[in-house]
Order: sequence, then C-alpha cells, then structure tokens
Amino acid sequence: MAARPVTMTAIGIRTPGDADVLVPEQRPVPAPGAGEILIKVAAAGVNRPDVVQRKGLYPPPPGASDIPGLEIAGEVVAIGPDASRWKAGDRVMALVSGGGYAEYCLAHESHALPVGTLPMIEAAAFPETAFTVWHNVFERGGLKAGETLLVHGGTSGIGTTAIQLAKALGATVIATAGSDEKCAACRRLGADVAVNYKTEDFVAATKTATGGKGADVILDMVGGDYIARNYEAAAVEGRIVQIAFMGSAKATVDFMRLMLKRLHHTGSTLRSRSVADKAAIARAVAQTVLPLVAAGQVKPVIYKTFPLTEAAAAHRLMESSSHIGKIVLTL
Ligand SMILES: NC(=O)c1ccc[n+]([C@@H]2O[C@H](COP(=O)([O-])OP(=O)(O)OC[C@H]3O[C@@H](n4cnc5c(N)ncnc54)[C@H](OP(=O)(O)O)[C@@H]3O)[C@@H](O)[C@H]2O)c1
Repeated sequence: MAARPVTMTAIGIRTPGDADVLVPEQRPVPAPGAGEILIKVAAAGVNRPDVVQRKGLYPPPPGASDIPGLEIAGEVVAIGPDASRWKAGDRVMALVSGGGYAEYCLAHESHALPVGTLPMIEAAAFPETAFTVWHNVFERGGLKAGETLLVHGGTSGIGTTAIQLAKALGATVIATAGSDEKCAACRRLGADVAVNYKTEDFVAATKTATGGKGADVILDMVGGDYIARNYEAAAVEGRIVQIAFMGSAKATVDFMRLMLKRLHHTGSTLRSRSVADKAAIARAVAQTVLPLVAAGQVKPVIYKTFPLTEAAAAHRLMESSSHIGKIVLTL
C-alpha cells in the first residue's frame, strides 16, 4: 500500500456564512485513536445539517472535527489501538461526527458498515439518512407493518429514505413535498399518496387517505405551524417524531389534542449521541436495512455529484431545495 501523505485537501468553513465560506484547505491527515479507523474517502454525502453548521448554527459536538461532513464511503487505510473489526483495504461506509469533506476521515469502527455491492457514491449517501430514519421512524416512532407513515420533506435525503424503508417494511406512506414534480418523485419511490403542500392541505389529505383515522407515525422536519397540524393529522395513539425545525422551533399549540388523542411527541438529533448509541443504531441498520439494500428494495437516490473542491456549489444546490434525493461530493 502506498505511504499515506501527511497533509490532505479538506473543506474548511472560513467563517460562518453563505456557501462561499466553504474553501479547500490543506489539513493534517488525522491519526486514528482508540477504536477508530482512518478511511481514504471516495465520496462524502452532503446533508442539510452541514448547511446549518456552515451558517454557525450547529456547532460540532465536543471532540468532533470542525470540517463538515457526516457520512462517507471509502477504503480503510489505518487502524487505531483497540480497533479490530476492519482491516486495511476494506470498503466501508460510515457515519462520522464531522470531517467527511476531506481526503481522509476518521470513523469509530462500530459506526462503519460494509459497502457490499453499492457504488461508492451511493454508499456515501446511505449512513446519515439510514441511521436517522431507522432510529426515528422505527425505534422512536415504532412504525409497524400495516400502519401509516406521514413523512414531510418527502424528496429530501431523509424523505426519500423514509418512503422506501417504510414501504419495504409494509407500511402505507403519505409524503408531502413542495411541487407536483417532487410529488411524482415520491410516488415513484413508493409513496401511496403524495401531497403538494403548496396547493393542498396535508391534514385533509391524510384524513382522506386513512379513512378519517389519521397517520400512526409522522416524521417532521418543519415544525412551526406544522406542529398543531401534525396533531390534527395524527391517529389516536399517534407518534410524532421531530428531527428538525426548518420552518420554526417556536409554535403556539393547543395541547388539548395531544391529551385527547393520547399522542406521543418526541424527537432526537443523531450527531450528539454517544458512541454506544450510534453503534447500537448501526447494528440495527446492518440487521434490518442492509438486507433491503442488498435486495434492491432500498436504494440511495442520487440527484447530483460535485468534486470535493466544489462543495460550495453543492451547498448552493441544497439551499435552492430544487434537488430530489442526495447530493454527494466525490474524490
Ligand atoms: N435529527 C437528526 O438526527 C437529523 C439527521 C439528519 C437530518 N436531519 C434534518 O432532516 C432534514 C432533512 O435533511 P436532508 O439532508 O435530507 O435535507 P434536504 O435533502 O436538503 O431536503 C430538505 C427539503 O425539505 C423541504 N422543506 C420543507 N420545508 C422547508 C423549509 N421551511 N425550509 C427548507 N426546506 C424545506 C424542501 O423541499 P420542498 O420543496 O418539499 O419544500 C427541501 O428540499 C433537515 O432539516 C435536517 O437538518 C435531522
């Protein structure tokens, strides 16, 4: 194997701001610590939390790299002390707590999964959304076969994964999206009903689609006035899982419905979870989601790729919200 360089190209955030603050820089190649592996990155997924971090509103958790990037795929090139699960040359995809927009990136060995037959670009687009959807829709929301999932942001990276996974596991899926074209994409991915929230009321559409019952689980990334409307759209004993507040984290809500319908309203963020928590999610994803990927029932939806050094253009595309599925940086 060729000797590893001492420095690498990575994307730094010059100062909090718009996409232009993302600049290629030379950084030291990190050395794996206890339980870690060093991965030569082939591709890195771009996620909305990277945009929020770039704006200075989502700082890396203590100990995490300040380089953006939460998921990667590539080849293992070095193993840290106490790490035994992988060997040099293994092809892995990994959830990382930062540092993905770089030629080399560290991951905890327990947060990596085998790439299998996935192309590297698709593998890089898998961990962040698969971990998030698995944990929030199935572990937190408890979605079961035969139940109905309402997923907002149906064509987001998260949404495209949620639609496919929920369908593959036997649920009925209602998705919301901001255009007819995006709604058509949701249906192609398997959504039973797609609601253009700009022209249709998702509460009424959910009630119609469920014969008046409402959705058993709602995955929401919007917040704001969606919170009261989710309470309307939910079934009795419905579970509402909050993973972001792209609209607003503040709302005026009449909580009577929460009580009368015995709703559960919960939420989580993945990045700040402990190593052990993420390892447990990784094990569950390996057991439950990877077989569906291998069977072709769940497939990362790639909208566009950019070379690493064009990360700013990738962020501009994400902020335009015109994409359907994932944006990926290639090396
Ligand atoms: N909690 C966690 O652990 C966790 C982990 C990963 C991601 N997330 C969150 O999940 C969300 C999706 O992430 P992603 O990377 O999949 O995003 P993404 O691909 O950029 O998609 C976001 C989509 O949400 C829709 N949207 C709805 N309301 C919006 C609003 N007020 N502002 C902007 N967009 C709006 C847009 O499509 P329309 O045209 O349909 O409006 C947009 O394309 C983000 O909010 C992210 O922060 C949370």
